[in-house]
Amino acid sequence: MPVYAVTGASGHLGGFAVQQLLARGVPPSSIVAVVRTRGKADDLAARGVQVRVADYSRPQTLGAALAGADRLLLVSGNDAGQRVVHHTNVARAARMAGVSRIAYTSMLNADHTSNPLVGEHLDSELAIREADVPFTMLRNGLYLERYTDHLSEYLQAGEIVGAAGNGRISAASRQDYAAAAAAALLHDEGGNRTYELGGAAFELPQLAQVISEVTGAQVTYRDLPAEEYADALQRAGLDEASARFVAAIDSSIARGELETRSADLANLLGRAATRPAEVVHMAYDLLKGRL
Ligand SMILES: NC(=O)c1ccc[n+]([C@@H]2O[C@H](COP(=O)([O-])OP(=O)(O)OC[C@H]3O[C@@H](n4cnc5c(N)ncnc54)[C@H](OP(=O)(O)O)[C@@H]3O)[C@@H](O)[C@H]2O)c1
Repeated sequence: MPVYAVTGASGHLGGFAVQQLLARGVPPSSIVAVVRTRGKADDLAARGVQVRVADYSRPQTLGAALAGADRLLLVSGNDAGQRVVHHTNVARAARMAGVSRIAYTSMLNADHTSNPLVGEHLDSELAIREADVPFTMLRNGLYLERYTDHLSEYLQAGEIVGAAGNGRISAASRQDYAAAAAAALLHDEGGNRTYELGGAAFELPQLAQVISEVTGAQVTYRDLPAEEYADALQRAGLDEASARFVAAIDSSIARGELETRSADLANLLGRAATRPAEVVHMAYDLLKGRL
């Protein structure tokens, strides 16, 4: 039985990916959960998963963490500006450890988008190619949770505000991206693979409609020019750089850059991606204390 290593296992996506591997019959002892802080993975350790501590910024910790691993899911980190160095460290350590496949959580349409998030993902993809280990690029679209995490604010304001226009968004839940990652890690053989991953596309006015239907409250979408949206984000408390960054992501959505017609996600899942209405429903139940 190959040994599967998952980084970021204390986070949402990595944690779900470990659960998916377990659910698909991988013995806990054949899974290495790589975490930055040991205490954050006690639940996995209690299930018999090997928990090892490593930091993407400290190469000396990565070799020991990946020793004996055959297949690695490298969950992209969240230190903007440091990610290429971090992911390069992991890719090199994986090569040294004899890992036979690196699956990396990249970004949808990475090679033809001007989205402000893409630079670090493309450079990370390059570092993985240069490590000369067979790879699987999991080019994830936006998380539906990018929106449902703000459900209470939408309900309070009666609106979603953005600058995405009628751009279509092929978002999916983290659970679905994690399930797809686990499937690819288990089944990809031979050469290199690149998946463009996203669920059925929607526009933000449609998402507002779905939220209204699920919650019974009236929520609409108000579109602003990107500059005005950045100003509104600053008035809501974001610093200027972050506000411009978020507004630039919406501009990218407006240009259609976060849409895909690829069926890769459904194919990896073996079913359709979870519908936005279901994800909104779960978020609403959570909000109401029903979960
Ligand atoms: N597609 C999208 O819409 C979208 C949205 C947001 C983020 N993302 C990307 O997807 C990734 C996974 O998403 P998520 O929701 O699972 O994020 P998350 O819950 O914040 O998890 C990120 C994981 O990465 C680990 N990590 C970060 N820096 C590290 C380092 N230097 N060394 C070792 N581990 C490190 C974190 O460890 P700790 O628990 O110790 O912090 C955590 O376990 C994010 O990190 C980001 O790159 C994508």
